[in-house]
Amino acid sequence: MLKVLTSVLALLVASAFTSAQPAPGRFDAATKVFRLDGGGSSYVFGVNARGELQQLYWGGRLGASDTFPAAKVMPEWASFDTSYTNTPQEYAGWGGGLYMEPALKIAFPDGNRDLVLHYESHAATTNGFDVVMKDISHPIYVTLHYAMDPGSGILARSATIENRGSEAATVEQAAAASWSLPAARYTLNYLTGRWAGEWTLNQESLLAGARVIESRRGSTGHQANPWFALQAGEASEDHGEVWFGALAWSGSWRITVERDQLDAVRVTGGFNPFDFGYVLHPGMSLETPVFYGGYSPHGLGGASRLLHHFELEHILPLPSSTAASAAGAEPKALTPKLRPVIYNSWEATEFGVNEAGQMALAEKAAALGIDRFVMDDGWFGQRKDDHAGLGDWYVNQEKFPHGLKPLIDKVHALGMDFGLWVEPEMVNPDSDLYRNHPEWVLNFKGRPETQQRNQLVLNLARPDVHAYILGFLDKLLTENDIAFLKWDYNRNWSEPGWDQVPPAEQKQVYVEYTKNLYAILAELRQRHPKVEIESCSGGGGRVDLGILKYVDEVWPSDNTDPFDRLTQQNGFTYAYAPQIMMAWVTDSPHWLNNRTTSLQYRMLSSMQGSLGIGANIEKWTPDETSAAKRLIAAYKDVQSTIVQGDLYRLISPLNESEFSATETVKADKSQAVLFAFIHSTQEGRGFPTLKLKGLDATAKYKLTSIEGKPRVGTPEVASGAWWMNHGLEMDEGFRGDFQAAAFRFDRK
Ligand code: GLA
Repeated sequence: MLKVLTSVLALLVASAFTSAQPAPGRFDAATKVFRLDGGGSSYVFGVNARGELQQLYWGGRLGASDTFPAAKVMPEWASFDTSYTNTPQEYAGWGGGLYMEPALKIAFPDGNRDLVLHYESHAATTNGFDVVMKDISHPIYVTLHYAMDPGSGILARSATIENRGSEAATVEQAAAASWSLPAARYTLNYLTGRWAGEWTLNQESLLAGARVIESRRGSTGHQANPWFALQAGEASEDHGEVWFGALAWSGSWRITVERDQLDAVRVTGGFNPFDFGYVLHPGMSLETPVFYGGYSPHGLGGASRLLHHFELEHILPLPSSTAASAAGAEPKALTPKLRPVIYNSWEATEFGVNEAGQMALAEKAAALGIDRFVMDDGWFGQRKDDHAGLGDWYVNQEKFPHGLKPLIDKVHALGMDFGLWVEPEMVNPDSDLYRNHPEWVLNFKGRPETQQRNQLVLNLARPDVHAYILGFLDKLLTENDIAFLKWDYNRNWSEPGWDQVPPAEQKQVYVEYTKNLYAILAELRQRHPKVEIESCSGGGGRVDLGILKYVDEVWPSDNTDPFDRLTQQNGFTYAYAPQIMMAWVTDSPHWLNNRTTSLQYRMLSSMQGSLGIGANIEKWTPDETSAAKRLIAAYKDVQSTIVQGDLYRLISPLNESEFSATETVKADKSQAVLFAFIHSTQEGRGFPTLKLKGLDATAKYKLTSIEGKPRVGTPEVASGAWWMNHGLEMDEGFRGDFQAAAFRFDRK
């Protein structure tokens, strides 16, 4: 009775939305079908005759009056594959003959490990539903949360697992969601990498079996990124159906993409079950991360544009009202603030920072038109190199005898704000912190403490470590006028022990560590609303939609070689918006590849994201300085189009392409910016004509060069139709090695 009442109420609430603005969620009580509509997509699931929650449809948006028949379980396949495993369940417990990846696996104290979840009740929420499931005998309740973004159709899914019984139960595996697709041919896209080689786009036919992308490292990791895209048929930038997903979790994670024995596809992602265990005492619950999923009929390009806008509008922190009103901006900005153009001293000085040296760099930076001066590693404790100092967050007296204030004042006087590097979660054994608190690091008692970069990981799951990190950062930000923290994290976990809690509960470190990290970031932002934060982990080792709710930008790679960056940036943008991606111009020849490139090439490579300068600008020639100054100013004029517009990857730099090109178009189509790069001209081939995309065909656009020339005779003003159909031809002289050009198109 109660169940029926809840459903009727939910229906009433859901239909109340339809009168003014259609609510994304609808429930048909007769068929027990849930339907979510948003943007260009619909997502449908229902309760089947056995009481399981079963996916019915995910794809292009259906007609408003279209109805769905009730969910029908899949039959068993001979006597070997159960109906339970063949049915595309929304969130399958491991039990009942499940051979697919389970969403949830629980061990009970009596040895029972069978878990079968059935529908209990549901409630409508603003943008979707909370659907409550319960095990067929144990009082384990799982609430599945569904929230559909009405604009993009991106669906946020997560689960709350609750023990309402009187005995503890151990969660051995917990996903945020499973996504199902019917049997067909698909291409799987995913991102992998390593230090200085992040963001490699892999594209492969989805064959039978399971493809696992994961991190067992305690954090997101460089090796794989928690994003996938499945495309029907062959991979295509502009055409075809794409289903994509991104997991919002910065701890160990796993996404399993399965093509099952009947060729159907299921993607299950959440906490990495490897070495996982979370004890739910009576009354306790566990919240999974959120797994976002979306659909585009416009190829991988369409999928990434949807995701970029979603990140800008719903994931990244918006400017706080304090910060916005202080800057005289509208208090309710709908998009995150454009990233200030920064200068960072790391590649210029490494650990050799001091007051005079930083002040000299700050003067040069200000003359270039830089907005933010960031001092990197080396300013604290006994930090002369990477052997000592992490953990001791006091200002080094030898390098800064008067504290940070004189430098910060100087930076302010030069018209910039000040940012500082920190690596709060780490400790060098050669530090006062470690000498005083050796028990604070992740470690198994009596076992070795494996060092990476001469450092150990502080166990942030511990309340005392949590308090210490929050305390010193709060003090640093209270005592100094700091606008920005580059928050680094320079190693992966080893020996992840936590002997403060009973042995059965020690594996909870995988959850508690990351939750505490988020809590500290949230608390700092709340106490210091003007402070902005970058997530860095030896480059792009901690980039995901979880951390991006608390940070404004990321450092995608320590590899700043401008040619390598073209492929890295290309890979990055499949999952993340260009605004998030910091890109510095550094010195040539480059330290990693010993490649020599012009300043113009380096600038244009970096101008495709949020721009920074990381070179030793003291050594720049007057010509380099004035070229950089001109290009920084030109960048600022079109920055919002580049980093927040619709990105079209016109020519991919992958597969040893001689050429590459990107274009971004402002949302209202009033402006487009184009970048073109030559790796090496071969056999005299000229640069291909660039047919623009996404313009207003009937409007007129004026072409202006930012760098480089169009072919002689190219009209200065032409219709969107001209630029999209005829395209832009480059000057005959645009040839050679590592050449770059950039143009803007402004609607008249
Ligand atoms: C990491 C970062 C670099 C720099 C160094 C400092 O490698 O990715 O940008 O900050 O640490 O030690």
